[in-house]
Amino acid sequence: MTSIGIHDLELATAHHVVELDRLAEYAGVDPAKYRLGLGQDQMSFPAPDEDIITMGASAALPVIERNGIDGIRTLIFATESGVDQSKAAGVSVHRLLGLPPQVRVTEFKQACYSGTAALQAAIGIVSRFPGERVLVITSDVARYALDSPGEPTQGAGAVAMLVGENPALVEIERAAGIFTADVDDFWRPNDSTTAVVDGALSMSAYLDALTGSWDDLRAQGGPEIDQIDRMLYHQPFTKMAKKGQQRLAEHTGAPLSAALTREEQAAAPAGARDTGLFTGSIYNRRLGNSYTASLYAALAALLDHDTELAGRRIGMFSYGSGSVSEFLTGVVQPGYAEHGAASRVEAALDARVPLEVAEYRELHARVLPSTEDAQTPRVTRAPFRFAGVHGQARQYERTA
Ligand code: CAA
Repeated sequence: MTSIGIHDLELATAHHVVELDRLAEYAGVDPAKYRLGLGQDQMSFPAPDEDIITMGASAALPVIERNGIDGIRTLIFATESGVDQSKAAGVSVHRLLGLPPQVRVTEFKQACYSGTAALQAAIGIVSRFPGERVLVITSDVARYALDSPGEPTQGAGAVAMLVGENPALVEIERAAGIFTADVDDFWRPNDSTTAVVDGALSMSAYLDALTGSWDDLRAQGGPEIDQIDRMLYHQPFTKMAKKGQQRLAEHTGAPLSAALTREEQAAAPAGARDTGLFTGSIYNRRLGNSYTASLYAALAALLDHDTELAGRRIGMFSYGSGSVSEFLTGVVQPGYAEHGAASRVEAALDARVPLEVAEYRELHARVLPSTEDAQTPRVTRAPFRFAGVHGQARQYERTA
């Protein structure tokens, strides 16, 4: 059977960064609560001329430059911070990237999970149309109300993936575990620019979904726990991955290490199996929550920093509040290390422009109405920008 999976991937983020130590100082909270309690150091924050479309196109551009457009007849854009109720964000990306008209474009939504639905749909399309490739873009801006418990778990980021036959990075295996439950843990009503969340319920729903989807993976003939070498989790904040790993260890009886930092790794009990929890958190700790992109940012971090992955199996847990989740597995391909994007991603993270808390709060409160014509200031250094609103329609342009 032909192998299908992720052939290439790229991560992009926003122009600004907020240091969580500064936010803690402003909120009168011990900075250790954010750094250790949540496992977050920073959060990306978009400039006024950035959104899910500019980040998504910026992530996809290098993928297209490296691989060309031959065989791409589908673009799926996964997001839960959509900018329009009708038009798919991917249609704007399609134009910005200069893709031909013979590409079907659509948008997938189910909270943070929909990137995984897009990946599975892409695999289905490639199975139906051998030789085709599918561009999957996950892109989100995580926004909670100012001064709410969710505030330090905001963030922004996009991961673009090219899905095709004989992938260079990760073959996605056939068995997948699924778990859906109707739960009001996190949602964003149509008339709200920020998410509504029941924090405690969201964490218990996530953990129940993890064991539910794991059990289904096993029932579908998926690998046993000791046949999985690395484990990646959706990371609303990186400590959630640690909680997930602890729950999976309890549930399966496997001695999985829950060390999330270098210090915890050094102090891990003898016999604890390191499945890459720390390595998979390297980017997310600095990006913050990127919703649909979060799991794939963890994958990017692992591929960029773990030199012993060839032939190894990765478990990936995808969770989207509301809730739908999936546990899938993939096998890393020989030669994956040639992708080596660590220096690119780290340079992009280092180049973000810091915001003081007052500046961040002002930007957070700024919402551009769709009813008035307006131009946005030119701020971003990304290859694409949101230029403003004209005739109630959002306008996008290439910056260079
Ligand atoms: N030093 C070290 N640690 C400290 C500390 C200190 N001084 N003070 C507190 N902590 C620890 C706490 O012990 C706690 O750790 P544990 O959970 O391991 O016990 C941690 O810091 C957080 O403290 P609180 O529970 O008091 O935090 P909170 O109530 O202020 O908010 C939150 C936490 C509920 C996660 C909130 O940030 C939130 O609502 N976030 C958004 C929702 C979310 O991300 N949910 C995750 C699952 S849902 C999902 O995955 C989908 C998605 O993307 C949203």
